[in-house]
Amino acid sequence: MSDQYRSALVTGASSGIGWEFARELAARGADVTVVARRTERLEQLAAELSGVKVEVITADLSTDDGIAAVEQRLAADPVELLVNNAGIATAGPFAEQPRDAEAGEVVVNVVALHRLTHAAIAAMVRAGRGGVINVASLAGDQPLRGFATYSATKAFVIQFSEALHAEVKRSGVHVTVLKPGYVWTEMNPDGPDPKSLAGRFWLRPEVVARHALDAVAAGKLHSVPGPHYRFASAAVNALPDQLVRALSSRFQAG
Ligand SMILES: NC(=O)c1ccc[n+]([C@@H]2O[C@H](COP(=O)([O-])OP(=O)(O)OC[C@H]3O[C@@H](n4cnc5c(N)ncnc54)[C@H](OP(=O)(O)O)[C@@H]3O)[C@@H](O)[C@H]2O)c1
Repeated sequence: MSDQYRSALVTGASSGIGWEFARELAARGADVTVVARRTERLEQLAAELSGVKVEVITADLSTDDGIAAVEQRLAADPVELLVNNAGIATAGPFAEQPRDAEAGEVVVNVVALHRLTHAAIAAMVRAGRGGVINVASLAGDQPLRGFATYSATKAFVIQFSEALHAEVKRSGVHVTVLKPGYVWTEMNPDGPDPKSLAGRFWLRPEVVARHALDAVAAGKLHSVPGPHYRFASAAVNALPDQLVRALSSRFQAG
């Protein structure tokens, strides 16, 4: 079960799904290192967690220095579970977006995740145990108009995680890719009325975090919380790419 992991590092733990990852890991008995830019929020989280060691690292994962600081922490004191959760989503036509915001999204969602996985996984393979949860999105299952950069970064996370899972599974290391649909977090400040039909499809972040933690403990490659989202993901992946592209190009998201 999940409490096999005695230590974990969670990026993007200052809110949303990452906050719930940290709470659930602590409840399962793991020491937790929490990473984000908002130190006060991380300290508030640390004060809530009891019975385990909690370390706070303030780091901006859109910068080389921020990523390097977390890499150094992982090298100095390897963790048994890495949760690459930090992520941002820009929205709107790519040609109209500021270059730096789009490029920063690629660094946080892809480059940081890639480098931190590299920093953590060799020690796990040597130890013959450990886990990595990479947080992607159902948005990564197909190209999305209006979310071109976001859906492309999440497609990277899915493909990278699927290949890595195959590479390390025989060594005893579990790699799981989490693909949530809509989740009630700060990323979606204007969600629907929770009581509306659309609102009923949205998930609570604690449900999402628990689903992924159970999946990685069990060695499952994919974690798609919610039966309706599992159906949607299976359907998109079963359709021919050409049809998926044709359908997604008809909708303008963002
Ligand atoms: N909410 C959804 O509907 C949904 C759906 C699918 C996938 N996801 C994915 O789930 C993950 C978590 O998102 P969430 O929904 O929980 O959103 P959230 O509440 O906005 O949390 C995002 C987290 O990422 C951190 N972060 C953002 N930029 C950072 C940076 N430059 N350096 C370090 N940390 C940074 C934020 O911390 P600071 O601001 O303090 O740095 C925050 O802790 C993301 O990867 C997202 O793409 C979310």
